[in-house]
Amino acid sequence: MSLFVVITLYFCSWALAFPDIPTSIRTREEQPNTFRPICPKVFVIGMFTDEGEAWYGIPEFNVLANNITVPGISPLFPQVHCTSDDDVCQVTTGEGEINAAITISSIAYSSLFDLRHTYFLIAGVAGVNPKVSTIGAVTFARYAIQVSLQYEIDAREKPQDWNTGYFPQGSSLPTDYPSELYGTEVFEVNQQLQEIAISFAQTATLNDTADARSYRALYASTQSFAPGAQGPTIMACDTATSDAYFTGGLLGDAFENTTSLFTNGSGVYCTTQQEDNATLEALLRAAATGLVDFSRIIIMRTASDFDRPYANQSILNNLLDEFQGFGPSIENIYLAGVKVIEGILHGWLNRFEAGIKANNYVGDIFGTLGGTPDFGPGSIFVDGKAKVQKRGLRDKKRLRRRQTLSSDS
Ligand SMILES: *[C@@H]1O[C@H](CO)[C@@H](O)[C@H](O)[C@H]1NC(C)=O
Ligand SMILES: *[C@@H]1O[C@H](CO)[C@@H](O)[C@H](O)[C@H]1NC(C)=O
Ligand SMILES: *[C@@H]1O[C@H](CO)[C@@H](O)[C@H](O)[C@H]1NC(C)=O
Ligand SMILES: *[C@@H]1O[C@H](CO)[C@@H](O)[C@H](O)[C@H]1NC(C)=O
Ligand SMILES: *[C@@H]1O[C@H](CO)[C@@H](O)[C@H](O)[C@H]1NC(C)=O
Ligand SMILES: *[C@@H]1O[C@H](CO)[C@@H](O)[C@H](O)[C@H]1NC(C)=O
Repeated sequence: MSLFVVITLYFCSWALAFPDIPTSIRTREEQPNTFRPICPKVFVIGMFTDEGEAWYGIPEFNVLANNITVPGISPLFPQVHCTSDDDVCQVTTGEGEINAAITISSIAYSSLFDLRHTYFLIAGVAGVNPKVSTIGAVTFARYAIQVSLQYEIDAREKPQDWNTGYFPQGSSLPTDYPSELYGTEVFEVNQQLQEIAISFAQTATLNDTADARSYRALYASTQSFAPGAQGPTIMACDTATSDAYFTGGLLGDAFENTTSLFTNGSGVYCTTQQEDNATLEALLRAAATGLVDFSRIIIMRTASDFDRPYANQSILNNLLDEFQGFGPSIENIYLAGVKVIEGILHGWLNRFEAGIKANNYVGDIFGTLGGTPDFGPGSIFVDGKAKVQKRGLRDKKRLRRRQTLSSDS
């Protein structure tokens, strides 16, 4: 126990003296001499009230022991909450990509924290694809895909032979790989850590309710929805980010295709949410200056509702039904998540402090953190310099030429 304390203090003081944090960040806020940054072992990220409150009043630890006001985070949730020993911190970002990105950036660049050894547990609810999983399930993603970062045509005006009004930026067909990349289209996190998190979560007994069970059963009449009709499990499958809260089988299928396209066939469209790519982009930029370790991120999404109706149900009935899996999904954030946190804390000295080595590519579509993405066109960095300065300029010209040619014919 005392060893724990010594190590913790060591990291905190080391952080102040360590030269690889840019001076502008270290000295931006003048701190008294006794100031030590908080260096949590696990930082839990929720997006709205119920996801945050899932962690309050629990027997394992008290994150409300230390409330820290952090400039730049959501006016609705202006404080980060930590245990008295700083081992576990929790923040509620506010919903949607902008809130998530700015909250996480503000924390990452705050001199109040030293996050270089911190594990980030994104822990929120999500829509779920009944072809892959079901309400109440707990999912851990390897890929996060920004599916709505595309061109969009209202489906009533789309070309007749298209199946969707969404098509990738810089492309002229829904099946073309995007040629105009913003860099946030796909993130890939540490698969070894994902597997460890799943093994910890599997020691939990998940919550379920009679309402969720009877709702699930309604999906059984459609063969492809068989996983949606089965009981909730803990599983690996990927997550789609969109600011627009979309619903329905057609958009679900379109974004399933987008997920597969953007990840070169590796990603499985499973859950839908409104923040993860934003949170990941904020962490990625902080990782690029050494402030966080991008290989210490876990994306856990518990399923609260189906992304599409069951056979013969109206689309609005499904969207507006309040008695799907919301209750169990909130319960399961805690029930599964606390096992992950305890696993990391208990194994800190012999396993997690040093980090879990990833065997897969970890990072974004640009290759910002180094390495070669296993999806997309490959790293844009050569000798540390980006070789693309302006977005897809060349590709845009090529697209225009193609459009001209096809209208000529
Ligand atoms: C921290 O804030 C919560 C409310 O957000 C409050 O219930 C709790 O008492 C506060 N803790 C301390 C130590 O003031
Ligand atoms: C969102 O993040 C996921 C993985 O976390 C990644 O697969 C996806 O490409 C990202 N999408 C965008 C648009 O950034
Ligand atoms: C699930 O949680 C609810 C409270 O949200 C509780 O009433 C119910 O008994 C729990 N069910 C199981 C199976 O744990
Ligand atoms: C998704 O892709 C499949 C296979 O290419 C295609 O049959 C289907 O129509 C596409 N769905 C949508 C909505 O784009
Ligand atoms: C859906 O409605 C159609 C037409 O009323 C009916 O033929 C079909 O059996 C229904 N399917 C299910 C699964 O209820
Ligand atoms: C991914 O697919 C695109 C489009 O087919 C291709 O250009 C790219 O080289 C592929 N990337 C990888 C890493 O295989």
